[in-house]
Amino acid sequence: MSMTTLEDLLVEQVRDLYDAEKQLVRALPKIAEAAKWEDLQEAIRNHLEETKNQVSRLERIFEELDKPAKGKACKAMRGLVEEGAGASKGKSEEPLTDLAIIAAAQRVEHYEISAYGTARAIALQLGKENIASLLEETEDEEKAADMKLTDIAGDLMGQAGDGKGRTEVEKLPRKSTQAGANSRRAARLEFDAKTVNQRL
Ligand SMILES: [Fe+2]
Repeated sequence: MSMTTLEDLLVEQVRDLYDAEKQLVRALPKIAEAAKWEDLQEAIRNHLEETKNQVSRLERIFEELDKPAKGKACKAMRGLVEEGAGASKGKSEEPLTDLAIIAAAQRVEHYEISAYGTARAIALQLGKENIASLLEETEDEEKAADMKLTDIAGDLMGQAGDGKGRTEVEKLPRKSTQAGANSRRAARLEFDAKTVNQRL
């Protein structure tokens, strides 16, 4: 497809996501089956249901863009899914299998968070607010799924042979994440607002 406008770029990004999500709908049942811990299985199965809904959301976006719902092979997701399928193999200790699955699944979530964020920014630039909010709904689900996986990993690391009890992952420094930077910025703004109010 020749690309001349920002809207063309948005369509291409949505096509990439459409293929990526459909690959996940096929892959997640096998990954859930490979997981040993019930909490992890349940989290992956819940995310499978969310992912099916995300596919429908992208179809609504294609309608809004007046384009056919057609994917564009997402090679990055194919690689991530392949790594995920290999993650459960060759680990003898039970928590390690699940931790390896989580490591692969979180790479998937971060890839998606980034791709949805970019697509949403382009949609906003084009004044397509409906599309931007549909993209944001999915982005929020991916962020929640990522946090859930972090939480489960904290429990599992405590169970690993050399673990020292549950790791409070949420207390680890998160300097490099955009979400962390945003929440620190929000906290700072709130603090500044309070200080200003007190002075008035
Ligand atoms: Fe997704």
